[in-house]
Amino acid sequence: MFPSLALGFLLAGIAAVTAAKSSSCIGTISSLDDVSNAIECTTVNINAFTVPGGKTFKLKLLDGTTVNVLGEIQFGNFSWAGPLFQVSGNDITFNGNNKKWDGGGPFYWDGQGTNSGTQKPHPMMQISISGTLNEVYVLNSPAHAFAITNPGPLTISGVTVNDSLGNFPNSKSGNRAAAHNTDGFDVSGSNIIIKHSTVINQDDCLAINRGTNITFADNYCETGHGISIGSISSDSVVSNIEISGNHVVSSMFSFRIKTDASATNSAVRNVTYSDNVATNCTDFGVLITQSYPSNLGTPGNGVTISDINFHHGTTSLTAASGAYRVAVNCGSGSCTGDWDWSGLKTSGGKVGSILNNHVISGMTY
Ligand SMILES: *[C@@H]1O[C@H](CO)[C@@H](O)[C@H](O)[C@H]1NC(C)=O
Ligand SMILES: *[C@@H]1O[C@H](CO)[C@@H](O)[C@H](O)[C@H]1NC(C)=O
Ligand SMILES: *[C@@H]1O[C@H](CO)[C@@H](O)[C@H](O)[C@H]1NC(C)=O
Ligand SMILES: *[C@@H]1O[C@H](CO)[C@@H](O)[C@H](O)[C@H]1NC(C)=O
Ligand SMILES: *[C@@H]1O[C@H](CO)[C@@H](O)[C@H](O)[C@H]1NC(C)=O
Repeated sequence: MFPSLALGFLLAGIAAVTAAKSSSCIGTISSLDDVSNAIECTTVNINAFTVPGGKTFKLKLLDGTTVNVLGEIQFGNFSWAGPLFQVSGNDITFNGNNKKWDGGGPFYWDGQGTNSGTQKPHPMMQISISGTLNEVYVLNSPAHAFAITNPGPLTISGVTVNDSLGNFPNSKSGNRAAAHNTDGFDVSGSNIIIKHSTVINQDDCLAINRGTNITFADNYCETGHGISIGSISSDSVVSNIEISGNHVVSSMFSFRIKTDASATNSAVRNVTYSDNVATNCTDFGVLITQSYPSNLGTPGNGVTISDINFHHGTTSLTAASGAYRVAVNCGSGSCTGDWDWSGLKTSGGKVGSILNNHVISGMTY
């Protein structure tokens, strides 16, 4: 009994050492066929290649893996659900090196996004890692670009979503912008920092659907729907959010909290906006609404919104002519706590309505 048990331990030990040794290899991916071997290594280098249409480029990484993107990734043009890329693992260092991930947007864009028309693979980039994601450059996403659902603390830095080509109409979109529903970052996770990133698109730059302890700092958002919390559906909590040092340019909204009119049992708590600059805001500068999808419809009151502050540094906002600077549309009794808006400075546009909110102080709107 004893010797065979000892032999068992010895063999297990050797197996563990062998496994540890072999995972320190460098895996190289130049086609989907290389993926299964490469992800046995804790360094994975990705060369330029084209992912065949209708396939997800899926990386299920070992803990502690470093990924280096060394060439441009293209995706075959094919109408399907997606996602196009999916990465998961703990304590990952993902170095995008600003190499382009080209989603082939113009092939799909028809002005209708994910509402109807051509099926568009989305999200383009499904990120389910903890660790860091740096300098990933997405060009022309078919629809939503990044979806973030992290298993642990994650810092995203220097990422680009460039769907600027989608601002122009094409032969399938009539006179509408060709791209639609091209959200930059859709976040359902906690302990996330997104910084020094750029999003040029046609929908939310950031949309936080659920999660706590999320910082969005020093980013640049252009032509989309600005920085959003929500939309909040039922049984969801978003809390402890910091939005600071961002630039929001030529966007429909700048800072928005949107909760579904029909949502129940949800909350948005403790959101701080500081040191942001928003210019040429075309519809609403600040919009806090509980009637989503309608901007100023009949608000629901199944979501509590509390402690929303513009302070600790001035946020300046310039509305385009005809746009509302600030509008607040709360359900009866569902916006609570002390809201200090003394750090919000607005100009241009016109005054908006404030419904069911008796808790804002220091606002000049
Ligand atoms: C997909 O179509 C778009 C637009 O037509 C094009 O820019 C892109 O290169 C195409 N992708 C591939 C892999 O052929
Ligand atoms: C975005 O892409 C367009 C081409 O579609 C290019 O002209 C522009 O320089 C890019 N902008 C950024 C910020 O990368
Ligand atoms: C908040 O998130 C950051 C970034 O992931 C992390 O470093 C920090 O420990 C988190 N704070 C708390 C209180 O969990
Ligand atoms: C509010 O959120 C900030 C992070 O944005 C955090 O530091 C602070 O502790 C939170 N306050 C409360 C009362 O939870
Ligand atoms: C304001 O933003 C709109 C929408 O993005 C854009 O069409 C317009 O050119 C911008 N105006 C200026 C002066 O930047």
